[in-house]
Amino acid sequence: MTTQSNPDASAPEKTTGDKERVLIFDTTLRDGEQCPGASMNFEEKLEVAELLDDMGVDIIEAGFPIASQGDFESVQEIARRSKNAVIAGLSRASFNDIDRCAEAVKLARRPRIHTFISTSPIHMKHKLQKEPEAVLEAIIASVARARSHVEDVEWSAEDGTRTEFDFLCRCVEEAIKAGATTINIPDTVGYSTPDEYKDLFIRVREAVPNSDKAVFSVHCHDDLGMAEANSLAGLKGGARQVECAINGIGERAGNAALEEIVMAIHTRNDVFPYLTNIDTTMLTRASRLVSAVTSFPIQYNKAIVGRNAFAHESGIHQDGMLKHTQTYEIMTPESVGVKETSLVMGKHSGRHAFVEKLKELGYELGDNAMQDAFKRFKDLADRKKHVYDEDIEALVDEGIGAAHDRFKVAALTVIAGTGGPQKATLTLEIDGEPHTREATGNGPVDAIFNAIQALVPHKAKLALYQVHAVTEGTDAQAEVTVRLEHDGREYSGRGADPDTLTASARAYVHGLSKLLAKRDRLHAQVG
Ligand code: KIV
Ligand code: ZN
Repeated sequence: MTTQSNPDASAPEKTTGDKERVLIFDTTLRDGEQCPGASMNFEEKLEVAELLDDMGVDIIEAGFPIASQGDFESVQEIARRSKNAVIAGLSRASFNDIDRCAEAVKLARRPRIHTFISTSPIHMKHKLQKEPEAVLEAIIASVARARSHVEDVEWSAEDGTRTEFDFLCRCVEEAIKAGATTINIPDTVGYSTPDEYKDLFIRVREAVPNSDKAVFSVHCHDDLGMAEANSLAGLKGGARQVECAINGIGERAGNAALEEIVMAIHTRNDVFPYLTNIDTTMLTRASRLVSAVTSFPIQYNKAIVGRNAFAHESGIHQDGMLKHTQTYEIMTPESVGVKETSLVMGKHSGRHAFVEKLKELGYELGDNAMQDAFKRFKDLADRKKHVYDEDIEALVDEGIGAAHDRFKVAALTVIAGTGGPQKATLTLEIDGEPHTREATGNGPVDAIFNAIQALVPHKAKLALYQVHAVTEGTDAQAEVTVRLEHDGREYSGRGADPDTLTASARAYVHGLSKLLAKRDRLHAQVG
């Protein structure tokens, strides 16, 4: 099948004046989720997808449906629940992959199949072990197969920036002839530089006779710290779709960070005269949610969403800020959704006030989740004098991940102090039934983790244990992140509580629930 027109409903419109729309393609749930330790469970993926859709992301790459039954189901459910965004699934060039992907995205209002194959000499020779002509044939066949399912097909030249130029142009031309409506030229290994990447788009668009029939896309990895700069340079070269991820998560050093791309366009619109559809005031919320569900902390000095991004510490800076905010601020904290930390509620606050506060923070919870969050809020307010927005966010985000976990911490008593061995008595609800074990350890955390091991024997190794305080003060909630390593995969878990040891137990149990759920799904697939 061939097509000469571009039926892509998501093609950027020309807008008034000289500003053109740039499509934001978010791959947090695919490239982001595929990096070690960032795995999310089903509910977490749905929550992230809903937020991305509400934020105005044009295309959500929801996953890689052939990778596992779990991936398939989450892409399918995200597609079913999608509102405005195009929902894309990734597939390799084989018919099996493509058909599975089509099945997963078909319930979306606007489905897309994103198919890719490597085109660089090193990938074709060593990874694919295919001759260039065979790769070209695979491109034509795979894109045509995808087009037999959906109108909106994206084709990617994996390792595009290390691909021989004439061959890349032939591949792009054939992909468009076969029906691709978006052409992505990724900098898969993060090797390119801004000037090179911009020129590549200019040259390919000039050399390929049917290039005007497709939207060109950038997809940059951050191995040399140039992912955002390269992406923006690609736009200067004529690309009109940016593939990026919240907090820049992704393979190895990650992808270009969505929030940085969007705010660069927004703040330096004189240099990047484009429009995006993103509600920038939701960026901070999106960043926190993704950090919470992946348990990847956000670097303090991270651009746009880092805790210090709008903090002015030195006397000279503070003095300047007091005289005129623009002395040291190129964008306002409000424009990215940073609010003054506000004291919200205490133990006398009722359900109504709590529901209103959740709405203000951008949460829409179903009845059960609301019930659960309110109960946990009341618990927290009983134990902690001041409850801040950040406390509520930590509490709700933790609940989203843990609500469907097989294991829950029901009770914990720890004996700690200088005269070891430290001892933990832990009751876990396992599939709804309480089970208790006692264990000692080299410190209280070790004792707790040994008690979990006694209750749920497993072989995972603790690869990371990290604590940070959600707010200030000695009664602040501790947010604990753990990463468990098993069979070459990493699973993260997170728990928040004013008691660091309880938070530690919850984090471990959350990670373990994810690990065992994934293992069961993999076994189900093999069987
Ligand atoms: O980095 C890459 O090349 C990719 C492709 C699958 C688009 O993620
Ligand atoms: Zn990638």
